Amino acid sequence: MSEHGGNIIGISQQYGISASELIDFSANINPLGPPERVKILIKNSLADIEKYPDVDYRYLHRAIAKAHQCDTTQVIAGNGATELIYAVVRYLKPKRALLLTPGFAEYRRALQQFGTKIIDYSLTEESGFQPDLRLLDALTTIKPDCLFIATPNNPTGLMPDNQFMQALVEYCEKNRISLIVDESFIDFLPDNRGLIPQCSATKHLYILRSMTKFFAIAGLRLGYLISGNTTAIAEMKNRREPWSINTFAARVGEILFDEHDYIAATHQWLKSQQHYLWSQLSAFPELVLWQPSANFLFFRNNQPDVDLWHSLLKHKILIRHCKNYAGLDERYYRIAVRSEWENKRLIAAMQQIFVYKVF
Ligand SMILES: Cc1ncc(COP(=O)(O)O)c(C=O)c1O
Repeated sequence: MSEHGGNIIGISQQYGISASELIDFSANINPLGPPERVKILIKNSLADIEKYPDVDYRYLHRAIAKAHQCDTTQVIAGNGATELIYAVVRYLKPKRALLLTPGFAEYRRALQQFGTKIIDYSLTEESGFQPDLRLLDALTTIKPDCLFIATPNNPTGLMPDNQFMQALVEYCEKNRISLIVDESFIDFLPDNRGLIPQCSATKHLYILRSMTKFFAIAGLRLGYLISGNTTAIAEMKNRREPWSINTFAARVGEILFDEHDYIAATHQWLKSQQHYLWSQLSAFPELVLWQPSANFLFFRNNQPDVDLWHSLLKHKILIRHCKNYAGLDERYYRIAVRSEWENKRLIAAMQQIFVYKVF
């Protein structure tokens, strides 16, 4: 069984529910769907299905570099951010890596493939699941070659403090620790440009971005990595399997940064629906919630006799249980912010469960 959310086919087969009937709160995808121009572009590009994509993805790299005001030598695009997690690990070949728990599963899988010794650093509930300056002490003691951190983090949805991130970047730069900052969800934060502007002045900082969530192209797949270490980027481009990004994804990536209306509409939707879910879920005394920063919410269910995941599945609602995240257990859940009617369906189902005790 997949370690990730969005496993609609697997769940529908296992539980005998039609996949088309399930409402998927387990994958954090923008419910506005892809921008209209994306669909038109793909339809108009169908004839190109018989040709290879540009093996160097020149136009795509140019579009990403232009959007972030950096140089194409600092950019590598990938088949989702996931391809680049593996690419950066393959390039770095770290002997020791520090992973924050709970965190996204693919960092560990990639590191395991390359035989890296992984040391876990737990973000405990007592510390609000947030890293702080104690992490720098741990780096001093453990001396890893690399560290992954997601901002906002998955599954907690929490955004570390800015000053802390600055201190971490400086520490890693000074101590030659490769710092991979996963900003796959940062586009959902309207005024946060993340750490890409600092890349040119650093050699050990790698920023990962995903386009699959914000632009709802999880099936098309597209992501990128930016670093001031142009030697590393060139090496990653050199070593990659050719044509890993298909023609349509590459073309789409060239236009997404100009989708200003879509970007504004997404921020507007998120503001209202994130608030709706937050206020409605906060009203259940059984739940403890953490303040979301992106398009998903993380909470603990304090009612041990309620298996929320199975109970909601009876309502054809799929949420992400977090029991397979290191550092968490069956009490923790993550839900995506969906469209208004879907969010209302979720809250109505949760009322059935918690208020009317229909499990
Ligand atoms: C933190 C984080 N990084 C990266 C990814 C992978 O994104 P992509 O679909 O671009 O491969 C995910 C997917 O859930 C994620 O949660």
